[in-house]
Amino acid sequence: MKQTDYFSVKFENDKLVFTDQTRLPLEEVFVETDNYERIAEAIERLEIRGAPLIGIAAAYALALAVKNEKQDVKGKFEKAYQRLSQTRPTAVNLFNVMAEVKETFNGLNEYSNAYDVLLNKAKEIHKKDEEYCEKIGMNGLAIFKTKSVVLTHCNTGKFATGGIGTAFGIIKTAYDKGLVSFVYADETRPLLQGSRLTAFELEKSGIPFALQTDSSAAVLMKQKKIDLVITGADRIALNGDSANKIGTYNLAMLSFHHDIPFYIAAPSTTIDRTIATGDEIKIEYRDKSELLTINGKQIAPSHYDAFTPAFDVTPAHLITGIITEEGVFNFPYNFIQ
Ligand code: MRU
Repeated sequence: MKQTDYFSVKFENDKLVFTDQTRLPLEEVFVETDNYERIAEAIERLEIRGAPLIGIAAAYALALAVKNEKQDVKGKFEKAYQRLSQTRPTAVNLFNVMAEVKETFNGLNEYSNAYDVLLNKAKEIHKKDEEYCEKIGMNGLAIFKTKSVVLTHCNTGKFATGGIGTAFGIIKTAYDKGLVSFVYADETRPLLQGSRLTAFELEKSGIPFALQTDSSAAVLMKQKKIDLVITGADRIALNGDSANKIGTYNLAMLSFHHDIPFYIAAPSTTIDRTIATGDEIKIEYRDKSELLTINGKQIAPSHYDAFTPAFDVTPAHLITGIITEEGVFNFPYNFIQ
């Protein structure tokens, strides 16, 4: 197995160290901070991104929010909690993980050791996600009937999780076992998580790949060049409707039309146990400048209007299977409340 030498986040010397993903792949810039506000900004700007990873970063941020605090520790925790809740609305991992940290905070009898307790909790959450990724990778092996060509969308690897990734983790595990021959990676407009991050991770893992515009998937499928599609998810409803990066729904429709299996891979922390269907998922809309500029360079007049959803919802019946750390689930989905 090829060694990978990059990371998304790590906690060292009482600071969160993260790779600024907006600068990749041309520059590897690392940021070190013990300021929860800086972490909130990083999540908003997508310096730290991907559903599981923003949850992990928020857990560390909540611990840092109470570091060295002696007065009104509860008020300071609440302030940070509110701030981090406002960063990005769609990925439920952020909210699930923060609720877990809050439960730990609420269980404290006194606050003198609040930082240590919350930091241990954040580390536990990080470790758990790493383990979930490994299990997802192994569980995903079951979907390969032959050595396959896989199409994927957005970034679901180390840059999106606390471990090897979800959809990416399956691709990597399957490649290492000789079950993947080639990967087509959607560039993933507008922020290019595919061409900037997934390609970086594929190259580091030694997996042969080609980039393509998001709109090339239909041609590839018609030419019978794709055996299966695997993507991640940001929020999964109890009936299996799944929100993921804008363009995922298109891929699921195209897969359905061409009779190609379409899979979602995600840890169980991505399941929103409070919603019955995808209609209840709040979709984030991004600033139109992300469409009208590329790397800060204007590509269309700034007065143009733009339609900017960051995510779409794929209806459950288009999803062949959902792979979690618990196994492979098939339609119809009935996740437990
Ligand atoms: O806007 P992003 O880059 O945070 O969107 C990320 C995605 O849509 C991923 O596919 C999803 O979070 C799954 S990551 C394992």
